[in-house]
Amino acid sequence: MLRCGTLAALPPVYFNIASFGNILKLAGLFIVQRGTIGYARREPDPIHVRIRSMATDPQATVQPRRWASLNWEWEGRATMAREYLGEVSSVVDIGCGKMTLKRLLPEGVRYQGVDIAPRDETTIVIDLNAERLPDMDFDAANVLGVMEYINDPDVFFDRLEQFDLLVFSYNCKGIKDVLTNMGILKSTPKGWRNRLTKAETIALIERHGFKIFAERRVRLSEYLWAARRS
Ligand SMILES: C[S@@+](CC[C@H](N)C(=O)[O-])C[C@H]1O[C@@H](n2cnc3c(N)ncnc32)[C@H](O)[C@@H]1O
Repeated sequence: MLRCGTLAALPPVYFNIASFGNILKLAGLFIVQRGTIGYARREPDPIHVRIRSMATDPQATVQPRRWASLNWEWEGRATMAREYLGEVSSVVDIGCGKMTLKRLLPEGVRYQGVDIAPRDETTIVIDLNAERLPDMDFDAANVLGVMEYINDPDVFFDRLEQFDLLVFSYNCKGIKDVLTNMGILKSTPKGWRNRLTKAETIALIERHGFKIFAERRVRLSEYLWAARRS
C-alpha cells in the first residue's frame, strides 16, 4: 500500500475510498473521451483516406500510386517563380505538390492547386495524362516540375493557352542524358515521360502562343521560363 504525504497519514479506509473515487473519475473520463473526441471514434480525414487508397490500390495506374505521398518541396524554384508572377490577382498551380507557391503569394491573390493527388480539400484532382485541364478563370498558370511526367507535351500545352501569364520549369535533355547514354553516369529512374532539349522546350512554349520574357537556370539542365500570351 502507498504510504506517503497526507494520504499516508490517513487511516487506510479513507485512502482506499479516495483511490476508488479517483478510479471512477478516470473511468468516466476515458468513456467520455472515447465517445466524443477520442481517436477511436473520429472519422478519418477524407483526403488522407483517398491518398492512402491511391497508394495501395493495385488497380491504380503507376502515376497516382507514385504521387500519393510527396515528401519533397522545391522552395527555391517556387521563390523564383513568385518573382515573375508580379501583380497577378489569381494563379492556378498545376501539379501543385505541397503548394509551396501558395505560401509565397501576397494575401488576396486567388490560388488554386491542381494535382493528380488531393493535396488539401480544395485541390482540383485530375490526371493530366488522362483528362484535359478544364477552362479556368485565372490570370496565370504556374507549372513547376510537372511536364516531365506528361505523356504528350503538346496536348498539355493546348490547355495552357487559356492563361495570360505562364511560369514554367522543365528539366531539359542535355549533357546528363548524353553521359547516361554513354554509361558514364548511372541512370536513376525518375518516371519522366518525355525528353525535350532546351531548344525544343522553347519552341513548344512559343508554338502555343507565348512570348518568353525571362529565363532562369534552376539546376544544371533545369530551366524556368516566364512567358506572356502574345
Ligand atoms: C516534382 S512534383 C512538383 C510539385 C510542385 N510543382 C513544386 O514545384 O513543388 C510534381 C507534381 O506533379 C504532380 N503530377 C505528376 N503527374 C501528374 C499528372 N499526370 N496529373 C496531374 N498532376 C501530376 C505530382 O503529384 C506532383 O505533385
